[in-house]
Amino acid sequence: MKVLVDRREATAAAVDAVVTGVFERGDKETTFPRTLAREDAAAKGLVKAAWDRREVKGKLKELTVIHRPDGRGRVVLVGLGPRPKFDPEVVRRAAAEAVRALKGKGARTIAVRLATFAQEPVSSDAAARAVVDGAVLGGYEFVKYKATTEGGVEETTVALGEELEREETTLRKAVEEQALVAETVVWTRDIANLPADVCSPARLADEARALGKELGLKVTVFDEAKLAEMHCGGILAVGSGSTSHPPRMIVLEYPGGARRGKTVAVVGKGITFDSGGLSIKPGLAMSNMKFDKSGAVAVLGILRAAALLKVPPRVVGVLACAENVPSGTSYRPGDVVRTYNGKTIEVLNTDAEGRVCLADALAYAVDQYRPDELIDLATLTGAQVVALGDAMAGLVSTDDRLATALLAASAATGEPIWRMPLTDYYRALVKGDVGDVRNTIEIPLGGMVTAAAFLENFVDGTPWAHLDIAGPAYTTPGTFRYQPAYQNRGAVGFGVRLVVKYLAEASRAT
Ligand code: BES
Ligand code: ZN
Ligand code: ZN
Repeated sequence: MKVLVDRREATAAAVDAVVTGVFERGDKETTFPRTLAREDAAAKGLVKAAWDRREVKGKLKELTVIHRPDGRGRVVLVGLGPRPKFDPEVVRRAAAEAVRALKGKGARTIAVRLATFAQEPVSSDAAARAVVDGAVLGGYEFVKYKATTEGGVEETTVALGEELEREETTLRKAVEEQALVAETVVWTRDIANLPADVCSPARLADEARALGKELGLKVTVFDEAKLAEMHCGGILAVGSGSTSHPPRMIVLEYPGGARRGKTVAVVGKGITFDSGGLSIKPGLAMSNMKFDKSGAVAVLGILRAAALLKVPPRVVGVLACAENVPSGTSYRPGDVVRTYNGKTIEVLNTDAEGRVCLADALAYAVDQYRPDELIDLATLTGAQVVALGDAMAGLVSTDDRLATALLAASAATGEPIWRMPLTDYYRALVKGDVGDVRNTIEIPLGGMVTAAAFLENFVDGTPWAHLDIAGPAYTTPGTFRYQPAYQNRGAVGFGVRLVVKYLAEASRAT
């Protein structure tokens, strides 16, 4: 999707559709809103006619398409719901609804009338960014394996008009920045949606190398031999079952835009397929496990956007990649594996593999880079999905300042997260019997936080935030219709907008 800014009125642009927001009207409200006068003039009175017929109510998800009698495209009125509930997320969803509805209808170009979305309490900057998110992400579909596709909107113009033309410089910057972020989410989705036969750990390494070349990032890939030298027994154990797709640890470094910025390490779980291993998953539970690499792919996206936006902190990405499948060479329940930091893990269940891989990646990031902060993203537990559903991620953090800043970034981007506790009760549950830590406990209690308590053993006291994205990383056929229109079925790219926002806001000094 191409994203442009035009200081003129939306109705003046030569586009296939003009998109305008309309608030929900009261039952007795009959006065035609002044904000719609321009659209009404362009459509020669047809907008007011639709309003008078009460066809336009302004309810959330409502779309009214009116063709201009002069044949120069359409006016699309998109409902914003009641004014008191208006926020950037409403804008994001509304822009996406419009783009989705125009799919397959011959509308290639649209102009969004920003002033109708930049309404209290949403600033013009926030509205512009939300329109970009909605339009770019709402237009996304994974079409790589489709013989034919319906054409959709290819170009979105954010039109400022009389009300906002004075803010052109700042709004142009906001739109350009957010277009880079949203396009990065699309890029992330395209990789996360790839099936496991195509997207192996080696393929993720290729993607990282290509990205590094394009953006001038340092990229290092550790193969099995190197991982063995480094005593990364966790990644090696999980990857040992796959003879066709061996494990990799991938490190990317973005040097930072500030002279003496802090260092943030971002670590991702990259299980390219999670069958459960010898503790094999039942059929249905396995069907979406190509998405078990979503955390690692999000880290690739975070590095990409961080470099494109030139965020202040230095950012180091570490991807722990392996395929978890059963075979004669697989790791087994009962095995004890030694990790990078010397701690041993007692494996009780080979399906709790993510934490076993992350153990090495976290310990490596901390030991090699001494980061000021450590953030990990992982589709780690089914318990997270049970606790919070598939729209929200779980946050566990040892640092209140970091947690608060991430919650603020979450509110600004509309990627919801909810903080969960981490106390000695959970820490005690993961203490090992014959090893230092155990990868599961016998009873299904507090699965999301016991997983976090396990990971804490590998962060060496670094201020740390763990994002369990098992639920929101992808939308499943059964539930995706309940998701906002900017999330089509499949990979969501969850965490990219959130963490990039956090990094962009991060103070320049430590
Ligand atoms: N990849 C799964 C977690 C998952 C479940 C992600 C559902 C997305 C949707 C993880 O490796 C796993 O299998 N976890 C087990 C842990 C258990 C064996 C302690 C789980 O949650 O069932
Ligand atoms: Zn698993
Ligand atoms: Zn997994």
